[in-house]
Amino acid sequence: MRGKIEALLGAQWGDEGKGRVVDAIASRVDVVARFQGGANAGHTVIAEGEKHIFHLLPSGILFPGKTCIIGNGVVVDPDQLLEELGELQRKHKDRARLIISGAAHVVMPYHKLLDGMEERFRGVGRRIGTTKRGIGPCYVDKISRCGIRVEDLLNEDVLREKLAYNLEIKNEILSKVYNEEPLSFGKIFEQAKEWGEKLSPFVGDCSLEIERALQQGKTVLLEGAQGTLLDIDHGTYPYVTSSNATIGGGLTGLGIGPSSISNVIGVAKAYCTRVGSGPFPSEADEETANWLRDRGGEYGATTGRPRRCGWLDLVALRYAVRVNSMTMLALTKLDVLSGLEKIYVCTSYITEKGKTENFSGGSAFLEQAKPVYEELPGWQEDIGECRTFESLPKEARKYVEFIEEVIGIPITLIGVGAEREQVIKRGL
Ligand code: GDP
Ligand code: IMO
Ligand code: MG
Repeated sequence: MRGKIEALLGAQWGDEGKGRVVDAIASRVDVVARFQGGANAGHTVIAEGEKHIFHLLPSGILFPGKTCIIGNGVVVDPDQLLEELGELQRKHKDRARLIISGAAHVVMPYHKLLDGMEERFRGVGRRIGTTKRGIGPCYVDKISRCGIRVEDLLNEDVLREKLAYNLEIKNEILSKVYNEEPLSFGKIFEQAKEWGEKLSPFVGDCSLEIERALQQGKTVLLEGAQGTLLDIDHGTYPYVTSSNATIGGGLTGLGIGPSSISNVIGVAKAYCTRVGSGPFPSEADEETANWLRDRGGEYGATTGRPRRCGWLDLVALRYAVRVNSMTMLALTKLDVLSGLEKIYVCTSYITEKGKTENFSGGSAFLEQAKPVYEELPGWQEDIGECRTFESLPKEARKYVEFIEEVIGIPITLIGVGAEREQVIKRGL
């Protein structure tokens, strides 16, 4: 029988705990594939008493016998990728087979420089708060059709020609617009050739690899990065990342069609966080935000920045379910809410046109939308040891059931702590 594809996507503003959910289900899948984003991602996995933060490697990399794919939709920072691989190799934990698409674009040193310069020039009020990993400028070159792809690193002549062309323009921009020193061709060329040599054993055809796995009846898990509300089209534009973090990105970013997708798993925290600028309707007051940040350890896995914190926004979550056709939800960090008297959830917005339960990423909508909260009773018990739904305090069960009712899909996994075994599985 033909195998199937499952997709796992962030349902909020990123950092929902995608890495840990991939880790929790990786043992039952055969292939784990990243399809968009780059080293702006930081996916945390705590396993066997050790914490790993993956920026580019799929979170299935710790599992022997699995195939991990970095698809054409990803932008690859070779230094970062080689560092991650090297660290795992040193620990003898690079257990999966890795394949990198030759068509994935390479984040070049000038992309990172330009990311920083563009942020500086946007100034206060316009700044996106990017991770400065060169993501936006790299995708710009991809769309402008001048980008350098992983396959180009393997061909010296092509690389020389493409790099020379790119540097000519980038150096004009760096020196004339940003008043910076131009970059030297020789150094980057040598570095890029070395990347090519080191990456060449991993370069392959990801679409074909997935098709073969499906023909053999295997299960392929797509690992999203960022989240629906950071999606370039469906997120809170312009405060978004430069790729499609929603389901469509999974198809174009790997070269697959939709007919084999049998399950779209959303991942959401039991509350909300956001790193960087942009609208966040259910952002909490300072006292509550500090409490959530302390309890949840809400500091960015990539930049270490404190995350903005707020209550669960079910208007936004229903939207994430809709734009991705999510079929189930993994709810993480429920344990963080233990100890609250009352928990607030946003169930609608008041806008100039009245009350609405429909989210829109448009800035005109979000600038004036005010959240309306429902108040639910909290619980005091520590739930870190709970492994069944029934063993959760009554109020925690009610909270989960309330969310399910509003979003219309089942919650099939609940995170009750950051360790690998601290999950309640309800069908995932
Ligand atoms: P990702 O980018 O979506 O993979 O998420 P991050 O790794 O950036 O952030 C999620 C953080 O929450 C990490 O520090 C995880 O270790 C932690 N985490 C994930 N699930 C849970 C959970 O159920 N409970 C607690 N307390 N922490 C969790
Ligand atoms: P994971 O995969 C949370 C945010 C940045 C910034 C905006 C644009 O770990 O969930 P970029 O560098 O992508 O141009 O920045 O997007 N951002 C993330 N926030 N988690 C992420 O990834 C993010 N990747 C980017 O903070 O607001
Ligand atoms: Mg993260």
